[in-house]
Amino acid sequence: MSKDISFSRRAVMMGAAALPLAQRISAQASPKATVISSANDFNGGINCCAKAMEVIQAGGDTLDAVVAGVNLVELDPRDSSVGYGGLPNEEGVVELDCSCMHGPTRRGGAVGALRGIKTPSKIAQLVLAETEHMMLVGEGALKFAKIYGYQEEDLLTDRSRLAFRMWKREMRDRSGHTNWESITDAPPKPKKIAELKKVFPQYDEETLGWAYDVAVNPPHGTINCISLNGKGEMSAITTTSGMAWKIPGRCGDSPIIGGGLWLDQDIGGAGSTGRGEENLRVAGAHTVVENMRHGMAPKDAILDALKRVSRNFDHDLERLAPIDIHFYALHKSGEYAGGSLWDRRTPKGAPAQFAVCTSDGRSRHENSVFLLQRK
Ligand code: GLY
Repeated sequence: MSKDISFSRRAVMMGAAALPLAQRISAQASPKATVISSANDFNGGINCCAKAMEVIQAGGDTLDAVVAGVNLVELDPRDSSVGYGGLPNEEGVVELDCSCMHGPTRRGGAVGALRGIKTPSKIAQLVLAETEHMMLVGEGALKFAKIYGYQEEDLLTDRSRLAFRMWKREMRDRSGHTNWESITDAPPKPKKIAELKKVFPQYDEETLGWAYDVAVNPPHGTINCISLNGKGEMSAITTTSGMAWKIPGRCGDSPIIGGGLWLDQDIGGAGSTGRGEENLRVAGAHTVVENMRHGMAPKDAILDALKRVSRNFDHDLERLAPIDIHFYALHKSGEYAGGSLWDRRTPKGAPAQFAVCTSDGRSRHENSVFLLQRK
């Protein structure tokens, strides 16, 4: 069957609504290699996309490319939302989640609540390549990783251990008491850096400020990365340490294929970072890809998914204010977008952005589209 015949049959099946995007696909016979990801701190997204593009340009597979890209972030102890150095669960144990999809073979693999392995992306890729299963969790996932020679390691860093201790100190009963403070029944004190410095003298003010902030505002973080090569082949991955201070065993959206990640080789891929529970309520990544299937451009596909999140809160801006959620979408044609519920995390925070690397090798941040604007 020639390409033209298969294209026209698909266009008929998709209906008239698909035409604008279908025309864009037909106009671009061979897509330009593109990698997108979440932004992440410490230039994590920019480095991830650059690395993935390097693998693609060397002729590597698109899944190997995204795994190599996110590995940089998983192994970076400074990113407290992914891999080594990720913030732990409520028992102080780091549990990692990851899912990946390979377009050409239409296979997927995932791990959930994996302990002791710095690179869950590599284990998810092994589930995809070496088993007939889609997902392994907890102890089974760890045993599986060990069979492939991975060593169990302590994933806590000095920084993430400090943040955990800080969180324990901030867990108070109604009268302000916490068992994790040495002064019995003291009234709650103002949380000043000077006071924290007395308790944790070995840390600088910046580290204490960060640890206090993550203790009282548990973050979600995560990195999602989607790749496209010049032949039109695609892959995608999402990897995370999940919600800080979670109940042991909690899995968010990242390891859920269709939630934190979805890829259809005929259409494109999508992924999410931020509050996984809200994403799962709208099957976000799958919704975004299906929207693109029905002819929406990536940015509109994302905005529609964000509207569904907002709908689940009756569009009540007060209840939506603390919700942090972002989507990323890459169409098979090379068209892409990042989108966030809010224009910025805090009223004075930086604009929401994502990372992208195109075939010229230039990896950079671009502004995300957004649904709501902070006052
Ligand atoms: N999106 C990451 C999580 O909620 O676990």
